[in-house]
Amino acid sequence: LTETTRQTVQHLVAAQKHVPGALLPILHDIQDALGYIPAQALGNIAQALNLSRAEVHGVVSFYHFFRHEPAAAQVVQICRAEACQSMGAEALWAHACSRLQTQGGTSADGAVTLEPVYCLGLCSSSPAMVVDDKLHARVDADKFDRLVAAAGS
Ligand code: FES
Repeated sequence: LTETTRQTVQHLVAAQKHVPGALLPILHDIQDALGYIPAQALGNIAQALNLSRAEVHGVVSFYHFFRHEPAAAQVVQICRAEACQSMGAEALWAHACSRLQTQGGTSADGAVTLEPVYCLGLCSSSPAMVVDDKLHARVDADKFDRLVAAAGS
């Protein structure tokens, strides 16, 4: 970690470590500030909260929301929750993986981060996805290609 990143983590941990149930708020703050949760930060967080590193790691891994690495310039999130699954979200996810050459995470060319999300509140117009914070409904493979190409240009 750079010195600045290390200081940011320390500052955010110190700001909330005495609050009951501080782990999730701290993780959210770190992700908001850095875009991801650096593996090197887990030890600091664990120590400050009197937890084991494994416990902190378990929580970071449990929530898909938390990134383990910085996001690419373009972030694409596909809903894989139930309503979207029933409308073809798994096929859409498979299409996205093959198009971006990833199993989720960073695309082969490093330009896109592909992430699953679990309900975007658009269940009645599923499958849904987000491209760079913008919601899109009723997405199929063609629409996916158009949206990703438009966002990347
Ligand atoms: Fe996908 Fe609700 S299940 S938007």
